[in-house]
Amino acid sequence: MATVTLKNAKKQFGAVEIIKGIDLSVADGEFCVFVGPSGCGKSTLLRMIAGLEDFTSGSLQIGGKEMAKVESADRGVAMVFQSYALYPHMTVKQNIGFGLKMTGHSLADIEGRTKRAADMLQLEPLLDRKPSQLSGGQRQRVAIGRAIVRNPEVFLFDEPLSNLDAALRVQMRIQIGKLHHDLKATMIYVTHDQVEAMTMADKIVVLHAGRIEQVGSPLELYHRPNNMFVAGFIGSPKMNFVNVEAGTGSSLKLPGGGTVKIDGMKAKLSGKLTLGIRPEHVELAKKTADANVSTVVRAAEYLGSETMFYVTLPDGTEAAVKADGLAKTQVGDTLLLHFPPKACHVFDPDGKTLHNGDLSK
Ligand SMILES: Nc1ncnc2c1ncn2[C@@H]1O[C@H](COP(=O)(O)OP(=O)(O)OP(=O)(O)O)[C@@H](O)[C@H]1O
Ligand SMILES: [Mg+2]
Repeated sequence: MATVTLKNAKKQFGAVEIIKGIDLSVADGEFCVFVGPSGCGKSTLLRMIAGLEDFTSGSLQIGGKEMAKVESADRGVAMVFQSYALYPHMTVKQNIGFGLKMTGHSLADIEGRTKRAADMLQLEPLLDRKPSQLSGGQRQRVAIGRAIVRNPEVFLFDEPLSNLDAALRVQMRIQIGKLHHDLKATMIYVTHDQVEAMTMADKIVVLHAGRIEQVGSPLELYHRPNNMFVAGFIGSPKMNFVNVEAGTGSSLKLPGGGTVKIDGMKAKLSGKLTLGIRPEHVELAKKTADANVSTVVRAAEYLGSETMFYVTLPDGTEAAVKADGLAKTQVGDTLLLHFPPKACHVFDPDGKTLHNGDLSK
């Protein structure tokens, strides 16, 4: 088992710097998830750890040993890709054992390791089938089996479930979680899926344009984002951002003339600011006196369990509100919103967090 430590890791493709100095420590046995917008460098960073891309500069240690210049095969890592790339003419069993055969493992050893992986992934009944006779989820399990038999210290996953349908993703997510529990290996996992990130990770790394914005547990990032980027990236549907102005004391002036007083505000507020509030924390007010802002409903999605309203604030800002499934408001109606102060975040003009609400209060 192994820790993974990156120090000032950089990667340039030609003149363009893609990874701009990453410092990161992933603990032994930790499940670490990389998230970030498309093109921010998640796959590149994972491939650098795997040894599929070289480092322009910086260091990589795995289990305390410098690895940035070590051959991929000697790093003790195994990578699982989005496209499982199985050999079509080989059976499941041959696909799983192929890498071991190439590196000269004995037949008995290959047999034993394949059996153990097949047990873990419930592939036993499928060992003699060809990839074309498998479902997408089964193929992805074979690809994971191929990684398991190598007994890696570190598993690297690059969006392994994004080709699967929703139900299968849930199944595989649980299976990978179980695998992590059983193998106790260090895992680094790239995903676009908020639910995967929130449910699987011990630690989430939010990347943006080749840099780390914030590292933390899923709930730390959800409740205490360092900046607007992380606040807007973690959570689905995303946090609403409202243009406000500092009023007297810790109050903020909202579009339309309403105010909200932020309790426990430590920073001194002045000038133009941004208030952040998640759709699930906005409350519907019955009368104007209880509302912070009056909005107009632009679109409504009645999902049964809940209703999503997309509304326009008096200054034209768009916002989303998650209400219970019984709300009867229609498109074009007025919706009065209440922003509970304890759910409000405040950001300065540079997008840095001045205040995070605390829902536990
Ligand atoms: N071999 C390469 N040569 C030149 N540029 C590259 C190369 N590989 C990746 N890039 C660029 O590096 C940036 C980061 O790419 P990367 O694949 O790491 O993004 P990503 O975060 O994984 O995105 P996605 O979520 O879409 O998979 C992109 O702008 C991409 O075009
Ligand atoms: Mg990628």
